[in-house]
Amino acid sequence: MGKVIHIKWDENVSVGIPLFDKQHKKLYDIMNDFFNLLQNGSGIKKVLETMNELKEYTDIHFSSEEKIMQEYGYEEYELHKLQHESFMSELIQLQNNIVENNIIPTIESMRYIFIWLEKHIKDSDIRYSEFMIEKGIW
Ligand SMILES: [Fe+2]
Ligand SMILES: [Fe+2]
Repeated sequence: MGKVIHIKWDENVSVGIPLFDKQHKKLYDIMNDFFNLLQNGSGIKKVLETMNELKEYTDIHFSSEEKIMQEYGYEEYELHKLQHESFMSELIQLQNNIVENNIIPTIESMRYIFIWLEKHIKDSDIRYSEFMIEKGIW
């Protein structure tokens, strides 16, 4: 058996804002479910359900970040939003591949998705968090 992928949110990826940490944790949980399904060879129906859940929750999370960034005039808002959009289009592409072509995403493609998310949190989300904490929003 190959190496089992298990992802778990920890303090290293904290942005210091409870609401967003909570949302990031949930994204990690959903992704972990996803990795479990792929590693257990689950059927397409279950995979699609989890994919939908991941996409919907990502959408909710991105919207709540964008709303607050916009509200407080965060200067990197546009750039940050573009990053969110490109991630969403990756997710949509994976979802379409499941629905239209009956193709279950590979563990590698999901790993790529996860690495993107983690890098985004560490490099970009941390920047709005500094801004918000500085401004006393949190
Ligand atoms: Fe985020
Ligand atoms: Fe973000």
